[in-house]
Amino acid sequence: MSERLVVIGSQWGDEGKGKITDYFACRADMVVRYQGGNNAGHTVVFDGNKYSLQSIPSGIFNPATINVMGNGMVVNPVSVVAELQKLHDRGITDYQLFISDRAAMVMPWHADLDGAYEAKKGDSLIGTTKKGIGPTYSDKYARTGLRMGDLLEPEYFAERLRGALDVKNLELRMLGLKEYDFQEVYDQYMELAKQIGHMITDTSDLINGYLRRDDKRVLFEGAQGMMLCCDHGTYPFVTSSSPSAAGVPVGAGVAPKWIDNVLGVAKAYCTRVGEGPFPTELFDQRAHDIRERGHEYGTVTGRPRRVGWFDAVVARYTGRLAGIDNWALMLFDVLSGLDKVMICTGYELDGEVITSPPSTISRLARCKPVLIEMEGWKEDISGVKNFDELPEAAKAYVRKIEELTEIPVGIISVGPDRTQTITVAETLRKW
Ligand code: IMP
Repeated sequence: MSERLVVIGSQWGDEGKGKITDYFACRADMVVRYQGGNNAGHTVVFDGNKYSLQSIPSGIFNPATINVMGNGMVVNPVSVVAELQKLHDRGITDYQLFISDRAAMVMPWHADLDGAYEAKKGDSLIGTTKKGIGPTYSDKYARTGLRMGDLLEPEYFAERLRGALDVKNLELRMLGLKEYDFQEVYDQYMELAKQIGHMITDTSDLINGYLRRDDKRVLFEGAQGMMLCCDHGTYPFVTSSSPSAAGVPVGAGVAPKWIDNVLGVAKAYCTRVGEGPFPTELFDQRAHDIRERGHEYGTVTGRPRRVGWFDAVVARYTGRLAGIDNWALMLFDVLSGLDKVMICTGYELDGEVITSPPSTISRLARCKPVLIEMEGWKEDISGVKNFDELPEAAKAYVRKIEELTEIPVGIISVGPDRTQTITVAETLRKW
């Protein structure tokens, strides 16, 4: 039987999944994205070069690795072609990429509608990436959407496109937006099909073929983070998919039994882009310092990220929901230099202390973090190679997270480069 690893974000996205996935992708035979689309912004740094990926899996830099965009994704063919072009321009030309024929396809009007819906929400806007992710998933579940496989059958594609435009143009007109001409969209997408059509296939078959083989390693790459999960996150300030390990079976077309080694990627502190409650958020100089040291600006939108303390309430919650086996604790070096560091252990809500997030954002917005204060450390730890070499205060911080979440820290990242990674867990060292 193959070896598997699921890498998921356990906070509000941007935890550093790109680096971790890339770290394991070097040894993976296959890397699979199973949800989300080009709303993700995965940064991968190696050999001193920085690459930013949106919808393409992080295994793309290794010519021997098969990269799969699974059926649970929303795929924007315009963006895929543009991303590939950018990679080509930087000399990344040797790769293997496959796209599920069942993946929902992002159409040009989806981004327009995303922007228009946001504009109508006024102060209660979600702060989406405006890539059309929500509207594409809405159409998928309304069963009116188009799928990537449709591109391979021009007549069927034309029929689906006509049906979609009949309804969409009405909606676009009502909202005062530009309507789309059938022929223009048809020609544009047929042109895109010429460029990426050969990559579109039944990826579930491909993945299952690898899962059954003893000599294969399959990595499932989550995007966003568990607190942005449409079911379990801070609804409605969430994305429209399930970034959990539980999203893998449906989104990749594999049986749940294959999901057994889940790595929860968590920053050593917390960040959030977009709107929505964030109980441990900091508003003072410390937020500014962490933001600058951690380069906390959105990869996709460039927006400054909101910054807060590590939230063990969130970590316990996502650990339970996704069955996280180990943490990958990211950007640990960013905390160096603070006199004191804090961890949130519970929320005070209307005079009571709770240890799991409430279901509504109205209650979450009233939650005050219950914080414990720990000694900080001054040393630069970006060159540390082993856990034992870390300053005592830093070790105590890691141990406290393990104690509060009852999940071991398997990896500690002390810098953006692949080499700045301390692998503590034996199982992960072997992977
Ligand atoms: P959408 O996914 O574009 O619909 O945006 C919904 C929410 O998810 C917004 O708060 C976005 O900022 C957030 N979001 C979407 N993708 C990412 C990501 O990759 N990292 C962090 N936040 C994200």
